[in-house]
Amino acid sequence: VESEFTKAYERGIHKSKYWEPTYEDSLNLIARLPGIAAYIYRRIYKDGKIIPLDDSLDYGANYAHMLGFDDPETLEFMRLYISIHSDHEGGNVSSHTAHLVASSLSDPYLAFAAALNGLAGPLHGLANQEVLRWIRNIVKEFGTPNISTEQLSDYIYKTLNSGQVVPGYGHGVLRNTDPRYTCQREFALKHLPNDPLFQLVSKIKEVVPPILTKLGKVKNPWPNVDAHSGVLLNYYGLTEENYYTVLFGVARSIGVGPQLIWDRALGMPLERPKSVTLEKLEKLVGASS
Ligand SMILES: CC(C)(COP(=O)(O)OP(=O)(O)OC[C@H]1O[C@@H](n2cnc3c(N)ncnc32)[C@H](O)[C@@H]1OP(=O)(O)O)[C@@H](O)C(=O)NCCC(=O)NCCS
Repeated sequence: VESEFTKAYERGIHKSKYWEPTYEDSLNLIARLPGIAAYIYRRIYKDGKIIPLDDSLDYGANYAHMLGFDDPETLEFMRLYISIHSDHEGGNVSSHTAHLVASSLSDPYLAFAAALNGLAGPLHGLANQEVLRWIRNIVKEFGTPNISTEQLSDYIYKTLNSGQVVPGYGHGVLRNTDPRYTCQREFALKHLPNDPLFQLVSKIKEVVPPILTKLGKVKNPWPNVDAHSGVLLNYYGLTEENYYTVLFGVARSIGVGPQLIWDRALGMPLERPKSVTLEKLEKLVGASS
């Protein structure tokens, strides 16, 4: 890895200046990711022909262009997708993982790679592909996306009774509909109101929250960002859901990179959870010695 931070560290940079090469690394990482991710997409799913970047385009549109999409509406959707997936706070698994790993003064490339490993979990970023898979399974089961509320309700209970979560619903912090869901819904209402999968997503939003609320334990029964994105990507022709978390990862770099710069500028310390003694644990559970 060509890390400016690592080179500067080896030269003996003063710690008050750590943020400067971290800034260079973060910008380089953010700039390089769309090209690398598009290369992988073209190799795995298309003809392998690499599409060069178009530097007249903005970041999101250029990434879509390198993937092979040039329709203006698709480019506009990619702008929306990239901005809403970049970040919304630092406590989520991927952003926090990058912060943790970088606290050891690992370089931003290594910290971001660790973040992506967290993003790949189904309770986090992978949910954006899990949702489309779940929706496609509904369509497969009933032979049509145009199903009744009762059929949908039965399918949701089937998911829950088999010990799975309903993907795209709930959140670690939010306690209402995720605004990132709402803006995708508004986009869909404007551009694809009659798409059958969008209509199914809209029906799911009506049926899931009361069922999750009835369970009595779910703190947030409302849809999150991942409940919507798959159906929009699918509509615009990006149908390979196994790639969706890669898109998410490219977008997330724009949130994670600047947070690492701030960590170094503020001199954030090595992160470590607090440990407790056995005695403290025994006291906590009321165990007598
Ligand atoms: C996001 C998520 C991991 C948050 O987890 P959390 O902070 O522990 O959420 P809660 O405190 O509300 O969880 C309490 C209980 O409700 C369950 N729950 C939460 N969301 C649920 C969902 N969508 N479907 C079924 N059960 C759910 C939890 O699994 C937990 O059950 P348990 O006590 O038997 O383990 C969780 O809502 C979830 O798994 N959602 C589906 C996956 C998803 O969409 N992830 C993307 C998030 S942006």
